[in-house]
Amino acid sequence: MEGRAAPKEFEVAIGEAISAPEAFGASFDAAPAADELELGEGLEGDPALAFRRTLGMFATGVTVLTTRVGEQVHGMTANAFMSVSLDPALVLVSIDRRTKMCGLLYEGSRYGVSVLCETQSELSDRFAGRAVNSAEPRFDVVRDTPLVDGALAHFVARVERSYWGGDHSLFLGRVEYARQHSGAPLLFHGGHYVSSGRS
Ligand SMILES: Cc1cc2nc3c(=O)[nH]c(=O)nc-3n(C[C@H](O)[C@H](O)[C@H](O)COP(=O)(O)O)c2cc1C
Repeated sequence: MEGRAAPKEFEVAIGEAISAPEAFGASFDAAPAADELELGEGLEGDPALAFRRTLGMFATGVTVLTTRVGEQVHGMTANAFMSVSLDPALVLVSIDRRTKMCGLLYEGSRYGVSVLCETQSELSDRFAGRAVNSAEPRFDVVRDTPLVDGALAHFVARVERSYWGGDHSLFLGRVEYARQHSGAPLLFHGGHYVSSGRS
């Protein structure tokens, strides 16, 4: 049976795909300025803040991203995590370029993703650099990658590609390991942790 023709965008070999403004001969900082952000009704004040608050309307889970630095673990709270592809198994994280984590990841390195459960908000705060008195986190190491104990799901991914994402960098990871446990997730909405109401 003849397969359906692939959409045009799939005709570009992955190696030729444009991943950064450099592909056009421009540097990151020389990326063309975006049109000014227009704020709809009810949104006043600092546009950057209003944009951030509006993004916060999108409810997400919360993860802790981890990577090994010598004998140390570096962890960072992130809600900008998404599934990308089932075959191959790919996920994506968006990381602020000013964070320590951003400087630790590169193509070929591994990162762990621990999807937090509803009792782990203190852990989330801790890995977001907020002052908390939570117990020392414990880690399980899989494929040389630390994973936070007690999380709802775990992934280990190897960075396949990194992309320009404005003031963030995007790390597309090929998933090498995945596991899950039962429980209720920690959710984040409007800048606050919220309960899923499942337990
Ligand atoms: C709920 C929540 C979600 C966050 N999501 C992200 C994210 O997706 N990407 C990001 O770069 N920072 C995110 N942050 C902020 C980082 O966790 C924070 O900047 C952290 O201190 C960076 O750590 P590092 O510089 O030690 O690597 C989030 C913070 C919180 C509380």
